[in-house]
Amino acid sequence: MDLQLAGKRVLVTGASKGIGLAVVQAFVAEGASVVAAARRNTAELKETGAHFIPVDLSTPDGPRELVEAALALDPRIDVLVNNAGGGEVTDDVFSDPLSGDDETWAKVFDLNLGNVVRTTRAALPALIEAKGAVVNIGSVSADLPHTSPLPYSSAKAAVKAFTRGLAEAVGRAGVRVNAVSPGATRTNLMLDPQGYMAAVAANLGMDHDVLLGALPEQSGMLTGNLIDPGEIARVVLLLASPTMPSAVGSTWSVHGGAVKSA
Ligand SMILES: NC(=O)c1ccc[n+]([C@@H]2O[C@H](COP(=O)([O-])OP(=O)(O)OC[C@H]3O[C@@H](n4cnc5c(N)ncnc54)[C@H](OP(=O)(O)O)[C@@H]3O)[C@@H](O)[C@H]2O)c1
Repeated sequence: MDLQLAGKRVLVTGASKGIGLAVVQAFVAEGASVVAAARRNTAELKETGAHFIPVDLSTPDGPRELVEAALALDPRIDVLVNNAGGGEVTDDVFSDPLSGDDETWAKVFDLNLGNVVRTTRAALPALIEAKGAVVNIGSVSADLPHTSPLPYSSAKAAVKAFTRGLAEAVGRAGVRVNAVSPGATRTNLMLDPQGYMAAVAANLGMDHDVLLGALPEQSGMLTGNLIDPGEIARVVLLLASPTMPSAVGSTWSVHGGAVKSA
C-alpha cells in the first residue's frame, strides 16, 4: 500500500526511543524526511538518519524554539507527530489520593498537554500552508483514568479533547488532526528499571519482571502481550497519510482489548 508519504517533511517529538523512535523509523522507511526531537539523542535514532534537534518540551519556550529550528532547516512541515510525554514518577504518586501536589500536576500537564498545544501552535502556520496533518499520542489512560496517576490520565484526556476541538478549528483550512491512544506498549516507560512500571512494582512490593509478565492479563488485554511500538507507528502513518482525507478528529485506540466499552 502506497501511503504517499515519500518526500513529506515530518516533525516527530519524543523521537529518541520507544513509540517516537518507531514512528521515525516507519516514516523514514516510507521515504519521508524526518526532523526528530528529544532532550538527548540515541544510537538508534542516529541510525535512522533523521535530523535531530535537542529540546526540553516541558518548558514554556522549548516547543516554539523546536519549531523555529525545524523551519530554519526547511520552511515546510507536512506532518507533526506530538508524541513526547510520560514523565518522571515522584513518591507522592502512590501515597496521595490525588497522585501528587500542585507542582506534580503542573509538571505533568506541561509535558503531556502544554507541549502538545505549544508545539502545534508554533507549527500551525506551516501546517496550514502544507494542508498537512497532526497526530497526537494520547493514552488509554484517558478512558481508564484509574489505571494511571491522575495527573497523567487527566492530561491525556485533555489531549483527546484538544485533538477533537483542534480538528474542528483547522479542518476547513485543510489540516487534519487525529490521535492514537496506545495501551500498555513495550517501551522504556514499561521496561526501564528506573521507569514508571518499575516504580509501580516497587510500590506493590513485586519484582518488576513478574509485574510486566502479569500486566497484559491483569489489565484486561486479550493478547497476552505488551504492544509492539511498531504497531502504534503504523496507525500514526495511516492517520498522517494523504490517502486518508476523511480521518479527521478521531482517536484510534490500540489496546489489545483492555478497554471493555464499545
Ligand atoms: N508505553 C506505553 O505503555 C504508553 C501507553 C500509552 C501512551 N503512551 C504515550 O506514548 C508516548 C511515548 O511514550 P513511550 O512509551 O515511547 O516513552 P519513552 O520510551 O519513555 O520515550 C519518551 C520519549 O519522549 C522524550 N521526552 C520525554 N520527556 C521529554 C521532554 N521534556 N522534552 C523532550 N522530549 C522528551 C524522550 O527522550 P528524552 O528523555 O531524551 O527527552 C523519549 O524520546 C508518550 O506520550 C506516552 O505518554 C505510552
